[in-house]
Amino acid sequence: MQATGKFVIESMDLDNAGNASSTIKKMLTEAGVSKSIIKRVSIAIYEAEINVVIHSYGGTCTYYIDDEKIRVVFEDTGPGIEDIEQALEPGFSTANNQAITYGFGAGMGLMNIKNASDEFDITSSHLGTTLDIKIYFN
Ligand SMILES: Nc1ncnc2c1ncn2[C@@H]1O[C@H](COP(=O)(O)OP(=O)(O)O)[C@@H](O)[C@H]1O
Ligand SMILES: [Mg+2]
Repeated sequence: MQATGKFVIESMDLDNAGNASSTIKKMLTEAGVSKSIIKRVSIAIYEAEINVVIHSYGGTCTYYIDDEKIRVVFEDTGPGIEDIEQALEPGFSTANNQAITYGFGAGMGLMNIKNASDEFDITSSHLGTTLDIKIYFN
């Protein structure tokens, strides 16, 4: 399989959050990717998507699927993560009250993304954050 595409993710658009992960989940299911891999892909993309929605000024999610893996790149326009090591710690969260009202802000997202991914790369400055992950199909 070869597929690529891009989703725009708006800041605080909590009603559409999850669009990228559910669309990609559908594609991988139709392509016959195993359930356990799809579960990891869905968790990683969903958590990353939510992070762009609740923590950034907005961004994009670009995916590249080939026969052996999926690569997903999330890019946003800030305000960035001050201390990535701290952000990866379970329970650390700066989620605002609105996000918490929607049930987000447990502080487990980045750690779960890292654990679900075979390759995990995150860079951040006050201009924005780029998260680049890869998950292999076997
Ligand atoms: N795209 C992002 N832009 C800015 N800050 C982020 C982004 N993603 C994560 N963070 C920071 O890292 C923290 C931890 O993220 P995460 O583990 O997903 O927990 P949560 O989203 O529940 O707060 C967030 O609270 C936030 O401070
Ligand atoms: Mg999160």
